[in-house]
Amino acid sequence: MSADLDAVLDGAHILPVLTVRQPAAAASLADALAAGGARCAEVTFRTPDAEQALRVMAAHGGLAVGAGTVVTPEQAERAVAAGARFVVSPGYDEDVVAKCRELGVPVVPGIASATELMRALRDGLETVKLFPAESIGGLGTLRALAAPFPRVRFVPTGGIGAAELAGYLAVPAVLAVGGSWMATTALLESGDYAQIRRLTAEAVAVAAASVAARSAP
Ligand code: 3PG
Repeated sequence: MSADLDAVLDGAHILPVLTVRQPAAAASLADALAAGGARCAEVTFRTPDAEQALRVMAAHGGLAVGAGTVVTPEQAERAVAAGARFVVSPGYDEDVVAKCRELGVPVVPGIASATELMRALRDGLETVKLFPAESIGGLGTLRALAAPFPRVRFVPTGGIGAAELAGYLAVPAVLAVGGSWMATTALLESGDYAQIRRLTAEAVAVAAASVAARSAP
């Protein structure tokens, strides 16, 4: 499953998390993210129009678009029908995981403890979302959880901003960092796509430098 997600993310180390309230804005948003260098994005199933926004963004072509905040198998089905290439959940739910398997789509369940992580591993999942990362101890918790589970890849998300990005990506166990700081609700509501593009470009540059530094001698 993690290999599939790796392939979908295609080397992306940032995952913009989007809560879209106006599906009419989805195309401009996809343009701004792609212009900033993002390769993927997660559209959360928290708004009535999330499915439509996902459909528009998935059709854009420049981004691998997944669905977030998927908490039921039925949402996973709708997300995949709308074009989701991966599914993210805030927690661990066997039924959501089973449905994603049936649909053949990579799933990234949320975990916040070693117990939840072990449940994911038991079900054959080696890539998990650490959520809500900052509230449960941030980097210290991430390092402590990564140590006993060397095969696991993490997508820390929740409360992370530009200032924390490099710290998380310095940890080799981090596959990608997720967050809404590049396209906040305020930026989406004001339609400030230039700023979304700038923040995305900054994050992409920081991510590239941080990941390159991991392998530096
Ligand atoms: C999520 O759904 O992944 C989080 O709400 C994103 O967290 P953030 O808004 O704190 O970045």
